[in-house]
Amino acid sequence: MRLEEQYRLIYFKDLGDERGNLVVIEGEGMDIPFDIKRVFYIYGSDDTVVRGQHANRETEFLLVNVGGSSKVKVDNGTETAVIELNKPGMGLYLSPMVWKDMYDFSADSILLVLCSRHYDGTEYIRDYEEYLREIKGEA
Ligand code: TYD
Repeated sequence: MRLEEQYRLIYFKDLGDERGNLVVIEGEGMDIPFDIKRVFYIYGSDDTVVRGQHANRETEFLLVNVGGSSKVKVDNGTETAVIELNKPGMGLYLSPMVWKDMYDFSADSILLVLCSRHYDGTEYIRDYEEYLREIKGEA
């Protein structure tokens, strides 16, 4: 599958007014294609660390830098792309089986991650060679 079919940027509506901003993300096919089962967020990382470095066999993700900025490198074993997340209304949707690295976190980065599945460590692939074997159908 082409990498461009495995990720996309989604822009959410901002219902802000003179009181401030309010960004809404609705699941189940409204703003994002999946039902949100889990939410986590990453903060306190900086530009010296690389997070992620895994692929998920089942889970779809939506990443939003609700504060600050970070970069995400996506890789499908053949192609790579780098996406900078730097707006609270901008989300990066990732299909299952995309290898991802998150890095270059600004000091004020708060990276919100919405997930289509509950946490299950057995659906993570943390070894890149294993990932390549699985996408080539050799595993
Ligand atoms: P890790 O997968 O390394 O985080 P990142 O998304 O930056 O790659 O997760 C760090 C630890 O937290 C690891 O022991 C697994 C655990 N964890 C959970 O228990 N539940 C979760 O939803 C997540 C994302 C991680």
